[in-house]
Amino acid sequence: MLRAARLELRPLRADDTEDVVRLFAAPALSRYLAADLTDPERARAVVARGLAGTCPEGLGHWAFVLGDELVGLGHLWPSLELPGDVPEIGWYVGVAHQGRGLATEAAAALLDHGLNRLGLPAVWALVHECDAGSLALAAKLGLLDVGSGTHHGDVHRVLVALPGGAGPLHHVELWVPDLPRAEASIGWLLRALGWTEHQRWSRGASWKLGRTYVVVEDSADRRGGHDRTAAGLNHLALHAGSPGDVEALVAESAAHGWRLMFADRHPHAGGPEQYAAYLENADGFEVELVAERMPCPNG
Ligand SMILES: CC(C)(COP(=O)(O)OP(=O)(O)OC[C@H]1O[C@@H](n2cnc3c(N)ncnc32)[C@H](O)[C@@H]1OP(=O)(O)O)[C@@H](O)C(=O)NCCC(=O)NCCS
Repeated sequence: MLRAARLELRPLRADDTEDVVRLFAAPALSRYLAADLTDPERARAVVARGLAGTCPEGLGHWAFVLGDELVGLGHLWPSLELPGDVPEIGWYVGVAHQGRGLATEAAAALLDHGLNRLGLPAVWALVHECDAGSLALAAKLGLLDVGSGTHHGDVHRVLVALPGGAGPLHHVELWVPDLPRAEASIGWLLRALGWTEHQRWSRGASWKLGRTYVVVEDSADRRGGHDRTAAGLNHLALHAGSPGDVEALVAESAAHGWRLMFADRHPHAGGPEQYAAYLENADGFEVELVAERMPCPNG
């Protein structure tokens, strides 16, 4: 049994079968699957297969239980599609319970179980390239998108979760002279890039993406304002998606307290090979929004 804040995740049982049939009666849950599980017989067969298979200790299928109701389903299961001994994670939350953070809770508990308790070297996820909900969930959980391939008869993103460990950036703390202004500019930008609010207190706030968070704080111990040309932090550089995504952010950024720097050389102020926007806010903080890919030479 795994516990999350509101959910219990317990191994799937044969007597869950009719609850699973009810869950999959909603067409939305099969929309990105190879099989239409609104058909009760197919849904029953999926449960039967899940219970019949043998798999390594600690892996399997889980029921997501809220109170005494089965509200979702998940698995950590040897991948039938991807190479190596790396298990695959999957998740489903009933339509009546979506949009409440339950998938986030459940999937985080499964990943914690797999990576931190079982000590798996990694966990795969295969997500249909049009499944915006599962892609958002994977990004929120910090899974890395490592490419795409044809799986289950259609194009899927291939994502991987890796265990924690020493090395990666834990957090960055910025001391700011005006918290509301920092929230309006830095907070807006981080949220626009998919970071979510993590902490809030009278003098500060933070936003988190994956396992990394950025703090802005108007500390009582702060002396003076920020000077990006003095020793210390010059700028934060953030992955910002495609060149089009960068331009959309730049277009909106002025309304959130940012000005475009090096406008005469934008978007190649960092060099001809790099597509990036440099923004500065009213308190002198600079961010660089880096595009992942150059635009096609022929437009
Ligand atoms: C994807 C799914 C699990 C999300 O369940 P949920 O309980 O609603 O998810 P959460 O509430 O935890 O939301 C997780 C994040 O995804 C985002 N999200 C959820 N559905 C979304 C959608 N349709 N489009 C864009 N983002 C979406 C949420 O906004 C949230 O991000 P935020 O906290 O930054 O706002 C659910 O829609 C589902 O079961 N879909 C079918 C699943 C499927 O096909 N699985 C097979 C692939 S493994």
